[in-house]
Amino acid sequence: MTNNSITLTIDGQPITVPSGATLLEAAAAAGIDIPVICYHEATSPNGLCRVCVVDVDGGRVLQPACVAECQADSHVETGNERVERSRRTILEMLNASVNLRQAPEIQAMMRALAADASRFPDARRRESELIDDNPFYVRDYEQCVLCWRCVQVCAEDAQFTFALTLKNRGHDTSVATAFDISMTESPCVFCGQCLGVCPTGALKPKMEWGMEQGWTAEELRKNTRRGRKRRADGE
Ligand code: SF4
Ligand code: FES
Repeated sequence: MTNNSITLTIDGQPITVPSGATLLEAAAAAGIDIPVICYHEATSPNGLCRVCVVDVDGGRVLQPACVAECQADSHVETGNERVERSRRTILEMLNASVNLRQAPEIQAMMRALAADASRFPDARRRESELIDDNPFYVRDYEQCVLCWRCVQVCAEDAQFTFALTLKNRGHDTSVATAFDISMTESPCVFCGQCLGVCPTGALKPKMEWGMEQGWTAEELRKNTRRGRKRRADGE
């Protein structure tokens, strides 16, 4: 071990990592998979969703593995009963308020943890109109888990365009353009990077969405060349 590396134990397995490595990075180096939602390798981690929590030395609170740094000689458990109960509850609460119908990775997490999709039947659902204001993609924030990935990739993490921000507070928080202007009026350059990092169906290419709606070839051609604002029946 050098001054720039530390050794800890993860799920009983000793591992030496560079000083400053996160628990997520150390676990990956040890071949241990930790579920993530807000974390993406292309964006700066912010520790928002907390589905990546792990147990460090039985501490009072669980640590978010995507942002918590490894501590020398610590003992980390990534899947004990306490960790799984916490992740399960987070997923159940998320599912209670957000439409996760088109979020296969999150659905797989729920199955793996035997999460109860009907645990919070009276929870307030996130409701918003589908936004179709440009020829390239639609936004359905009923499916948004507020991971922030799109906001970050649009800003300092990649594009430096700053077309996206957050509006409102608490349950009503939503991704939006500044002052809710249309995407065509915003600085958006339609690079598509936000769609690439979105873990749900909240952001979708207009062509794909149109095909799901059963548009004809002519409708696809026409509607992907100008903006419209609508929500399909039954969506
Ligand atoms: S739109 Fe997608 S990428 Fe953006 S915050 Fe919502 S879920 Fe995350
Ligand atoms: S993945 Fe770590 S807090 Fe979201």
